[in-house]
Amino acid sequence: VRQIEVALGHRSYTVEIATGLLDRAGENLARFACRGRLVIVSDTNVWEAQGATLVRGLASGGIAAEAVLVPAGEESKSWAGLQSLTDRLLALGVERGDHIVAFGGGMIGDLAGFAAAILKRGCSYVQVPTSFLAQVDSSVGGKTAINAGAGKNMVGAFHQPSLVLIDPRTLDTLPAREVRAGYAEAVKYGLIGDPGFFAWCEENGARLVDGNAEARLHAIETSVRAKAAIVAEDEHETLGRRALLNLGHTFAHALEAEAGFSDQLLHGEAVAIGITLAFRFSAERGLCAAADAERVARHFKSVGLPSRASGSAAALAARMAHDKKASGGRLRLVLARGIGEAFVADDVDTAEVEAFLATQV
Ligand SMILES: NC(=O)c1ccc[n+]([C@@H]2O[C@H](COP(=O)([O-])OP(=O)(O)OC[C@H]3O[C@@H](n4cnc5c(N)ncnc54)[C@H](O)[C@@H]3O)[C@@H](O)[C@H]2O)c1
Ligand SMILES: [Zn+2]
Repeated sequence: VRQIEVALGHRSYTVEIATGLLDRAGENLARFACRGRLVIVSDTNVWEAQGATLVRGLASGGIAAEAVLVPAGEESKSWAGLQSLTDRLLALGVERGDHIVAFGGGMIGDLAGFAAAILKRGCSYVQVPTSFLAQVDSSVGGKTAINAGAGKNMVGAFHQPSLVLIDPRTLDTLPAREVRAGYAEAVKYGLIGDPGFFAWCEENGARLVDGNAEARLHAIETSVRAKAAIVAEDEHETLGRRALLNLGHTFAHALEAEAGFSDQLLHGEAVAIGITLAFRFSAERGLCAAADAERVARHFKSVGLPSRASGSAAALAARMAHDKKASGGRLRLVLARGIGEAFVADDVDTAEVEAFLATQV
């Protein structure tokens, strides 16, 4: 078992990563069970694919599972979804001292984590991420949220879990397209600050996407270590350090919004395009070599991820100007001086981005 500490003083917690961890869930989660019971929040797809394994693992430790299921899909991460979930958790008698188990992808982690943050003014929760995106990114760091009329993740809270349990074997039932999308977020850590890991990705990305367990384990561990270090330094994204994790994301959010947040473009797919754009824009500004930007594009393409944007440059730039990180007509973009050398630029104006996008779409 690989254990990674997220060092946050009295809110510190451990991320445990091991193949087959779900089979031993009873052992790992015994200390969180109340009266021999644990309430699990999951979605219909995850429960169908992995629920029995978790229930069996918990039972082996003498823990009974009480599942609260929400429909799979981003629509559940809404005010209505939150209301229904909190009502059901209260009906089950969840107390402030109880632990809720968030068992699913990033949608479930964000929704159940936010429900935990506000239920009875805050109860505890454990993350058991089942998608690649959640295992390399969203389950660590304590950002929880739902979507609102004004946009994605607009209502939420920082609420750290008590433990994160990652079993890469859950990925065996994750659709290949979702694996690739999550992989884009793993590549991101290499591009932000770990050129050696990006080189490893170039070498191993294809077999990882094809199902190689050892490669998946390595990518998860490397990503979690990188994220844990950044979160420990800048938990609430006030120092600029955590903002680096937004590499490619301002472009990505605009692309996702233009696609209507539909299955047409998954978040991780938008991130692959967004990161490519961030590197090309950096090259255009003379910050990094054009060859670096092309290396990034080539890698995403080689694993079947998109790297080209489509749509209207004006519409995308307008979306970017409305990003929650923009202020006074200026965009806050994560740019790069090379592979593994990302930084936050505050001096980008929307017109410059629009002119650049016009050459890309
Ligand atoms: N909190 C954060 O720091 C953070 C970071 C990145 C993304 N997010 C959020 O995460 C969400 C995206 O996460 P996601 O990509 O995991 O989406 P998701 O949770 O919707 O999962 C994607 C699909 O895969 C299915 N699935 C998940 N695990 C499975 C498994 N093991 N077997 C079979 N099917 C499985 C789900 O039911 C769903 O249909 C977005 O809401 C995004 O805003 C949060
Ligand atoms: Zn992301």
